[in-house]
Amino acid sequence: MTELKTGYGHGYGKTILFGEHFVVHGIPAIVSALNFKTAVKIEETPGLNDIKFIDQARPSYGTLEKIFSREQDYILCKLTGILLKTLDIDIDDLSITVHLDSTIPEFGGVGSSAALAVSLTRAFNDYFKLGYNDEKINTVAYEGEKLFHGTPSGIDNSISTFGGLLWFVRSLQKGKKNILEPLKTPATGLLVIGDTKIAHNTQELVAEVRRRKESEPEAYNPIFEKARKIVYKARQLLENGNFSQKLGELMNENHILLNQVGVGAQSLDDLCTIALNSGAHGAKLTGAGGGGCMIALCSSPKIQEKIITEFQSHGFQGYKTTIGLV
Ligand code: PMV
Repeated sequence: MTELKTGYGHGYGKTILFGEHFVVHGIPAIVSALNFKTAVKIEETPGLNDIKFIDQARPSYGTLEKIFSREQDYILCKLTGILLKTLDIDIDDLSITVHLDSTIPEFGGVGSSAALAVSLTRAFNDYFKLGYNDEKINTVAYEGEKLFHGTPSGIDNSISTFGGLLWFVRSLQKGKKNILEPLKTPATGLLVIGDTKIAHNTQELVAEVRRRKESEPEAYNPIFEKARKIVYKARQLLENGNFSQKLGELMNENHILLNQVGVGAQSLDDLCTIALNSGAHGAKLTGAGGGGCMIALCSSPKIQEKIITEFQSHGFQGYKTTIGLV
């Protein structure tokens, strides 16, 4: 009996520590992988003559079973179609079951869409023994990210592929590669992620920032330059393993700049205030803003607990995580 083929892949969740939105315009950003990930297993399924998804990536939806149909307006089907096309694999010949599982919390801004694209790409690479390295996986996953985010900077799929802590600079020149530098930090930072439970649309928020910057450059360019200075200072502190108040203050400053470019939200400010009042070194929105989530830098597990309890008493959810471990 011939053994049935299988393929495995994973992609990390992420949090942007410094520079979201500004990164779209070529300013460096720092992003960390989180100890949450999406895992994919592909199994050859003789006789199916199609693609079946068993999706546990969103536990609250329960297990979702779907048979792929080329015309289906189901985001997972569309994403798979794009990835297979980019990998130059003929979709018509496939007879597989795709199992999805995820520990990434179900809210915007922690990279679940990129993790999905990366884990699927990796699993197809493994299943078809394509032999692609991480750089190629990242390039293919970027094509999938476009489905979710229009013209993303590429930061989400990069951290989801490579993990760790990354210095990311988007290239604004066609044909020139983005800069991806792994950052080493000798210590571990403690974070709480807070969820506003307000859905956001990354594509629209990115487009609004671009429109504002282009229509009022004299007002917006100085904000972008301040963001650049912050990210360089933050890099130095991180590389020295300095997760102190100083780093927290840079996060607070970054949050103010994000409000100034119009991607803040009352609930994000509220969560940041609760975190700071509970002893966080600093707090900021993370990701596209307008809702989604925020992060708070903590000096101890006790402060993490305190912040989460305070969030809960205000009707919000918080998650403990770390920087520099994954
Ligand atoms: O994926 P989100 O919603 O966390 O936001 C991505 C970060 C942005 O800088 C806002 C967009 C981008 O493509 O870099």
